[in-house]
Amino acid sequence: MMSVELTSTAQRSLCVERGLTGLYRWYIGRSQAQRGWNPDRDFAWRSLRQDQPDAIHVAVEGFYAVEQFVPDYVRTLLHVIRESYGRSHFHVRWGAEEEKHADLWRNAVLSLGRRSVAWLEEHTRVLRTQTYELPWDDPLHMLFYAVFQERATHVVYKALESAVGGGSSTVTAVPDPVLARAAATIALDEAAHYHFFLQASRLYLYYFPDQAIRALVDVLRHFSMPAHDLIPGYDEFGRVLHQSGLFGRRAHYTDVVQVALNHLGLPGIRAVEAGIRRSRTRPDLDAGPHASWLDSVRLERGARGVFTQAARYARDAGVGHTLNAEFLPID
Ligand SMILES: [Fe+2]
Ligand SMILES: [Fe+2]
Repeated sequence: MMSVELTSTAQRSLCVERGLTGLYRWYIGRSQAQRGWNPDRDFAWRSLRQDQPDAIHVAVEGFYAVEQFVPDYVRTLLHVIRESYGRSHFHVRWGAEEEKHADLWRNAVLSLGRRSVAWLEEHTRVLRTQTYELPWDDPLHMLFYAVFQERATHVVYKALESAVGGGSSTVTAVPDPVLARAAATIALDEAAHYHFFLQASRLYLYYFPDQAIRALVDVLRHFSMPAHDLIPGYDEFGRVLHQSGLFGRRAHYTDVVQVALNHLGLPGIRAVEAGIRRSRTRPDLDAGPHASWLDSVRLERGARGVFTQAARYARDAGVGHTLNAEFLPID
């Protein structure tokens, strides 16, 4: 393998951008092949059970309210990441997938039997009088934000799937295979989004470990779900998710934060914060591009994996000549 001295920010930025472009191309191939579902035709909405307890109605209406802000999610972040070909093109595709989630939950709200089309039209009009703003206005913070947010949505949709799917859920709900399949379908999309953002994070953690770790800690300290401040009744939605057992603080820490840190090859949040403190008081510990308390072998394997995946995809698709997917290690 060719080894290049990646001394300048520009060189390492180019590595990240190549990784993101390869990751995006790989993602599109898989998205089209495996997740081309339709929110109308693929679900028997007319046979949805209409006798669910209140908690399920509140949860599904809350999911709709959050997902239907997707035009704002796309518009706001697109301005911030537009210089990256890979990430901005991915973002447009991501938006098209999230838009289907809003449509799916809209169909669910209207098929659960309590809400009329006129109610939903007015509800949506009121929601859209508010405008979503980004919690951070830089690409790196928003990348880690996306990691935790996508993982959280995956976890909560899987919880709904088990609740109505007759699984081992502790949540009280009426078994409904249609609603279970709807939740499972979206949960799979959220898992794919989570995976994209994990892979992108691995690039930054390897090539820009200092900035990446600091952004990650900022995000964890101040995390809240998107649009929570825009949705009338959001507090009740949160309370119902918690009381019903669909999602809560414990799930946030054990199933979201710990799982994501683990997937990224990082220690728990306390250990990450302690590592940052140590490197501040003992600059020698943070002398190289990799702080010594980080598992640099694992971080390198993570970044290398993004390029390996992209190279294999491009070769199989017959476009190996169009992508620069060679992994360049930091010396
Ligand atoms: Fe979604
Ligand atoms: Fe998502």
